[in-house]
Amino acid sequence: MSAEEYFNLYKKCVDIDSIQFSLEDFKRFQKSKNIKIEKEKYCIAILGLTDHEVEIYFIGVAESLRGRGLGKKLLKNIISFSKYYGADFISLEVGINNIPAKNMYLSFNFIEYGIRKNYYRNSSDGREDAIIMKLNLN
Ligand SMILES: CC(C)(COP(=O)(O)OP(=O)(O)OC[C@H]1O[C@@H](n2cnc3c(N)ncnc32)[C@H](O)[C@@H]1OP(=O)(O)O)[C@@H](O)C(=O)NCCC(=O)NCCS
Repeated sequence: MSAEEYFNLYKKCVDIDSIQFSLEDFKRFQKSKNIKIEKEKYCIAILGLTDHEVEIYFIGVAESLRGRGLGKKLLKNIISFSKYYGADFISLEVGINNIPAKNMYLSFNFIEYGIRKNYYRNSSDGREDAIIMKLNLN
């Protein structure tokens, strides 16, 4: 799949006010051995790989298809991949008000590990705290 195709899928799956990555980023991701993109037809995740950790930079499902189990299925695949990769844990940051994502992670036994104050800029030009979440794989 080309960087353009990944980027188009990403644009379908991200909320417009939280777009974080550009086409240039996807071109870079494709060349990087530290980035893995997991995708299904209507959802995509961007993973950062280090020695002992997989970090979920983004996971999203096309807006019209949310709430039908696709996010859960993709996260299950990410957890399987992370175990296969040999990671000790999976980490991520999620907006404190992003209840669907937070609930999804909690349902997979991620724990709240810390807070990053004013981490995200939101659409109303305010700032939103992020919760750091981790899933121990050992
Ligand atoms: C977060 C996201 C990926 C979840 O994907 P989804 O396909 O809608 O989720 P699923 O249908 O697989 O549901 C998984 C779990 O999420 C939670 N959840 C999903 N939608 C929810 C909602 N509207 N309200 C509360 N919890 C919700 C539930 O815990 C659900 O499990 P359950 O059905 O057993 O109760 C999706 O909402 C999304 O793409 N959001 C925009 C992008 C984003 O914010 N990504 C997170 C960045 S860290």
